[in-house]
Amino acid sequence: MTDFTPPTTEEALARLTMPMADAMRTQRAVRRLHTAPVDVDLVYELLELSLKAPTSSNSQDWSYVVVTSREQKERLAKLYLPLFRIFGPIERRRAAGDEKAQRQMAPGQWQAEHFADIPLLVVPCYERNLKHRPVGRPQISVSSFYGSVFPAVQNLLLACRAVGLGASLQTLPIWIVPVAQRMLELPRKMVPVCVVPIGWAKGNYGPTTRRPIRDVVHIDRYGNQPYRR
Ligand SMILES: Cc1cc2nc3c(=O)[nH]c(=O)nc-3n(C[C@H](O)[C@H](O)[C@H](O)COP(=O)(O)O)c2cc1C
Repeated sequence: MTDFTPPTTEEALARLTMPMADAMRTQRAVRRLHTAPVDVDLVYELLELSLKAPTSSNSQDWSYVVVTSREQKERLAKLYLPLFRIFGPIERRRAAGDEKAQRQMAPGQWQAEHFADIPLLVVPCYERNLKHRPVGRPQISVSSFYGSVFPAVQNLLLACRAVGLGASLQTLPIWIVPVAQRMLELPRKMVPVCVVPIGWAKGNYGPTTRRPIRDVVHIDRYGNQPYRR
């Protein structure tokens, strides 16, 4: 039993006035979630905000599959768990000796094992066509395909953060794209790009750990980093 009481949809929407910089500074991958239901109408409002994002040639060829049924979540969990069991140990080996990194893995483990208990999964998809392709030869950029999806996903993550929902961008659960397509009954040209599991946040938001800006910025040409001095 949990004594957690989620806010009403109206209360949650009122939180969207959070200062933008606060939302950006504290938005992070929140994987440990309450299993209390999340109102689909609330997520619908956040998805609408997410669609204010740019797309290549203003194509707007998005589709969001919002998974709420236990049956569909269980099917996706069956796709995800074997993948998690392959990649989990690789990640654990990489984190060996780093206590903080190891601690951070526990919520991911929890989520993989409780995937079907997560209140709601959003699967952002994009339509593949001649110009916007998810796969290409090395010399052909795929950035206009993925670049038409991830800005909207980031908007969704920020909106979730503001209202108090925990969310994260995940690609592993749908790593085997054709199987995910079949499960979600997507047409072949509609490609699932990631999964955003959503529930009321159990853990804390940020502050996040990121590389310092002085190491990242180059002025005029790569290697000219006056802020580093
Ligand atoms: C393209 C992309 C793919 C990702 N795939 C996964 C994933 O499959 N599973 C997962 O748990 N997190 C995934 N993440 C989330 C990252 O692990 C997370 O954003 C990063 O570790 C920073 O975490 P923080 O924001 O909590 O600091 C992905 C993030 C991106 C941008």
